[in-house]
Amino acid sequence: MSNFPLLERNHHEHGPLAVFPGSLEAARSVAGEMAALIRARAREGRACVLGLATGSTPVSVYAELVRLHREESLSFANVTTFNLDEYYPLSPDQPQSYRRFMRTHLFDHVDLHPARTHLPSGTVPKHEVDAHCAAYEEAIRAAGGIDLQSLGIGRTGHIGFNEPGSPRHSLTRLVTLDPLTRRDAAGDFGGDAATPRHALTMGVRSILNARRVILMAWGQHKADIVRQAIEGEVNSQVTASFLQEHANALFVLDAAAAGSLTRHRTPWLIGSLADQGLAWNERMTRRAILWLSQLKQKPILKLTDDDYNEAGLQDLTRAHGSAYEANLIGFYQMQHTITGWPGGRDPARAKPGDAPVRPLHAPSAAVYPKRVLVLSPHPDDDVISMGGTLCRLVDQGHAVHIAYEVSGAGAVSNEAAWRLFAFVRDSGLANPAESGRLDAFCAGLSGDTAPPTSPELLRWKGLIRRHEAIAAARVCGVAEHQLHFLDLPFYEAEPRSRRYGRADVAALSALLEKFQPHLIYAAGDLDDPHGTHRLCLHVLRDALALATEARAPWLTEAELWLYRGAWAEWPLDEIDLAVPLSPQEVLRRRRAIFRHETQKDQALFLGEDRREFWQRTEDRSRRLAQAYNGLGLAEYEAIEAFKRYAPAEFAASSAF
Ligand code: F6R
Repeated sequence: MSNFPLLERNHHEHGPLAVFPGSLEAARSVAGEMAALIRARAREGRACVLGLATGSTPVSVYAELVRLHREESLSFANVTTFNLDEYYPLSPDQPQSYRRFMRTHLFDHVDLHPARTHLPSGTVPKHEVDAHCAAYEEAIRAAGGIDLQSLGIGRTGHIGFNEPGSPRHSLTRLVTLDPLTRRDAAGDFGGDAATPRHALTMGVRSILNARRVILMAWGQHKADIVRQAIEGEVNSQVTASFLQEHANALFVLDAAAAGSLTRHRTPWLIGSLADQGLAWNERMTRRAILWLSQLKQKPILKLTDDDYNEAGLQDLTRAHGSAYEANLIGFYQMQHTITGWPGGRDPARAKPGDAPVRPLHAPSAAVYPKRVLVLSPHPDDDVISMGGTLCRLVDQGHAVHIAYEVSGAGAVSNEAAWRLFAFVRDSGLANPAESGRLDAFCAGLSGDTAPPTSPELLRWKGLIRRHEAIAAARVCGVAEHQLHFLDLPFYEAEPRSRRYGRADVAALSALLEKFQPHLIYAAGDLDDPHGTHRLCLHVLRDALALATEARAPWLTEAELWLYRGAWAEWPLDEIDLAVPLSPQEVLRRRRAIFRHETQKDQALFLGEDRREFWQRTEDRSRRLAQAYNGLGLAEYEAIEAFKRYAPAEFAASSAF
């Protein structure tokens, strides 16, 4: 029944694995297996029992199931479903409830009988919780057990809400959510205070009892926990690792989520590259040399034949002749990523002996000045992630425009909004006719208890962030008329819908067409807990695909540079462009980040790491500079790094 291209397992991996280039293909295959099972059961006149997950991971699986229902007459008439979990307490019609999620993404769009859909109830009284959980287990048994259980994996390694420490024999029960899980959910609930502390979840045993289990993971932010689940020992600290004990479990990953597995990060530890269908090309060579340099804590040019041999890299020195030759390859690759002229130089001011402007490959390399478009998902990602480079591009005479993709209204606390409304109220500047409304707003906001739901309040919160962005851009020398606020509609929709549409793509396409950038900078930082950066990147991918299809002439000259921001840095071996910053530039960037006052010390989405954004930025770029220095390259105060894509190649890629 399985239609998965299973990988041949190596000795690091303790479970069967299928890896797809992108999450869409992966999700389609999972939906394909579900559909095949439903149909097979229908042919036999039997029911099919599916165990279902919520969260961002299965959204594309449900979209495909709905498509199969609409276009390929897949009927759910014989299907019974059991969901893994529900927040507790939470009513089923709250936008964040998993019942509501399932209705939005699946139940309301297919012919599933409502009485055959089951979720633990977030509204049972506390004293009935145990009986409710026992009844849930009984209902699964009475339905004949689960045929196919689909799962996501949380960053704590949880399956369902089986947080670290959940024992193997656990059944459906009330659990306390891990702080990391709560922080990941805080965006949907409008902040920490409103995020539930508990949930009802099927247990590890309830999950392992299913006849078939498929765990899905997409995106680089899952890569490390996926590696622990697949390559680590079975242990209750990473409950997904229990799947290793299941006779019919499968891990389905996209390339990004598989990125930390030994087969991808350090394939030379598995065996000869040739045997794995890999080669010592420039990238692989660089990756191995950087790995070795960090392992031995030696600059690249000091690595010896013995170092290579001891680390099992004889293959590499053989491929390149000697350690000396290999070292030079790695060293020059890294050196060539560094430039202080990210947009190229004014040819009129060129002097003999100038260092070459290296990492610009595109036909636009000689164009000066360039049209540069910086895409910032939230209003502060531009300065947080690439504030130093932004200032340089402006100072070096390029036409820099910034497009802010979403309003970011959801991240403004009521307390921060109250301060501004109270100022307007007391300033005497407000229209007297509005004073009653202002009073009401201030009163409603001062307790900071009500979640920010009114569209009007959200619009004003968006405006607050807009002015912070304008102020920050001024620090970087970018004037207001060079700023574009796209307010992409997907962000304004229901919190967990996490889908974008034509209107989002059209808004970005129109800007690209109008501005015709030579350089596009975009967030490739997919670790953000709320998923907005990923959606923005997908919107860009679709907009570039449209431009490619239309053979937009500007596209042939354009280059795309992806930056990473507050949550992650590019691994050294993936960096194509490294822009060094002076101490003064670091301070200027800090001033720009400070303009985002509502995000200072009270941001809602800081995640596991409690440092403020400016601190993360400075630590990250300083650490990167130290890493370059550790490789034997020059010592800089800080570095901002980028990965390059040709826009058309990016548009066709499913890696994100
Ligand atoms: C959801 C569930 C959780 C999620 C996990 C990953 O029903 O039980 O285990 O699967 O938290 O969430 P996403 O997919 O949003 O990354």
